[in-house]
Amino acid sequence: MQSFDFLVIGSGIAGLTYALQVAKLGSVAVLTKGTMIECTTDYAQGGIAAVLAEADSFEKHVKDTYRAGHELGKLPVIRAIIEDGPEAIAYLLDIGTRFSLGNSSGDRALENLDLTREGGHSERRVAHAADSTGHQIMLALIAACNKNERITIFEHHIAIDLITQHHISNADGFVPGVSCWGAYALHTRTNEVFAFRARKTMLATGGGAQVYKNNTNPSICTGDGYAMARRAGARLVNMEFIQFHPTAFYSPEGKTFLISEALRGEGAALRLQSGETFMERHHPDGCLAPRDIVAGAIDFEMKKRGDRYVLLDATAIPAERLRERFPYIDGKCRKRDVDFTSQPIPVVPAAHYFCGGILATTDGLTDVHNLFVSGEVACSGLHGSNRLASNSLLSGLVMSLRAGRHPSNKDEVAFPDIPEWQDVGTFNENEWVVIGYNREILQSIMQGYVGITRSRRLLKYARARIHNIYQEIENFYQHNVVRHEVIESRNLAIVADIIVRSALTRRESRGLHQVVDHPGHDDENFQRDTII
Ligand code: FAD
Ligand code: SIN
Repeated sequence: MQSFDFLVIGSGIAGLTYALQVAKLGSVAVLTKGTMIECTTDYAQGGIAAVLAEADSFEKHVKDTYRAGHELGKLPVIRAIIEDGPEAIAYLLDIGTRFSLGNSSGDRALENLDLTREGGHSERRVAHAADSTGHQIMLALIAACNKNERITIFEHHIAIDLITQHHISNADGFVPGVSCWGAYALHTRTNEVFAFRARKTMLATGGGAQVYKNNTNPSICTGDGYAMARRAGARLVNMEFIQFHPTAFYSPEGKTFLISEALRGEGAALRLQSGETFMERHHPDGCLAPRDIVAGAIDFEMKKRGDRYVLLDATAIPAERLRERFPYIDGKCRKRDVDFTSQPIPVVPAAHYFCGGILATTDGLTDVHNLFVSGEVACSGLHGSNRLASNSLLSGLVMSLRAGRHPSNKDEVAFPDIPEWQDVGTFNENEWVVIGYNREILQSIMQGYVGITRSRRLLKYARARIHNIYQEIENFYQHNVVRHEVIESRNLAIVADIIVRSALTRRESRGLHQVVDHPGHDDENFQRDTII
């Protein structure tokens, strides 16, 4: 067993920001599945939203966020996170994040940052580092953590479960007043399991869009945090709201990557394969409508015509400006033989972001004592039924700064005797097929039956099939020694089940949850959260 004051699960913006805060109070262990930089934060392109321009105001950002989320977000939470935005960006500048500048001063100060625009924003308010914002943030956070002697990083360690009463007393099912004392984790290179004991645990494991076959996420996004929290007895909120990004590069083999919304913010237009524009038929803001509307419109137009993709045309923007502003997208498109300065890019919507998550306060507190959550895995009530572009990095950053400064980090904790991990069974190679095969089927079911437009019948089919898949994986998990792939597939099946059950609960269409059987809002019955 390893003992620390603080355990952080996840090395993205949410995890590392919290680690740097609490290192002022004690020793910190950070667990991460791969290397430190393998996380969604590193993939973030467009930027991070905050009120920095003179013409902008907190009220405008609050209004845009609330409206994009179809009035399901919590106004006090939205206000609190947005009002902390400028100070949070100043923190990223302080630790050395190389944001792009809007003038030639060379001075990386808040007032000099270049601000771009994305869908649903009424002002230019997205600070960015060209089109690799997340990468620049990660470089700064990693450098700060590496310099800090109180922080120990455990790469290639996958958390299996939070340590709670369920492990101490073998309690099954619901335990009132659950506490967390750390986590069990598997070293994925040696296959040894360790107990990490800590006074406070921060769960910052990011999202779970790998549950869909076509997604924009890195491979680490298997929803482990949601599943661990569920097993510990924490509540999960609004898990039906899965955001599909409108513009992922179309690849018949599904090898997609994101084309940032900022490209539309700078003037690129969506067109049908015939060259005709169509977004003006769906929303007054056209290509810069909120993301749920653009993705829904593309899905509608593709289905109507039987098309496999639409086009994103940036050719009206001067070539030099395009290459300088979007060097990452330029390089990725060229590798697929598309020159976006002279040709439109073929794009499709792809699963991108979980708007729901583990129920949390703006300070990251949860139902489980001593457990904080932050970042994509958390649901504080900021996004409602659809996230405004570039509000995710902001939310992870602000929540982790607040969690890191929370007075309860100083609490003394009485630990029970923590048992060693009980690794039972052998490794049954003959049945290993259950894991990989079921993962692929699960991803296809979610893609086909639980996508942008849903029906109750398809959701019920999905629920039944996911149940069988889960049973097979769980049976393998119970009878074999634990392995990385098994942990992930088991968690994916749990997350898929939660999404489908949440979707069946909401008998209305709102934001990212569009059901043919229940068109339109039902404010009287459903202007509230879905809680599992
Ligand atoms: P992550 O950055 O994903 O970090 C999760 C960490 O948890 C990883 O280190 C992972 O290894 C670790 N982990 C997971 N499970 C386990 C486990 N079981 N054990 C140990 N470690 C574990 N948002 C914006 O606001 N602006 C943007 O421009 C933007 N662009 C995006 C572009 C792309 C392509 C994508 C996919 C998303 C984008 N988003 C953007 C969303 C945003 O990047 C993410 O929501 C955000 O980075 C999540 O941060 P996080 O710290 O919560 O999680
Ligand atoms: C993008 O650059 O389009 C992604 C922004 C986001 O997910 O907020």
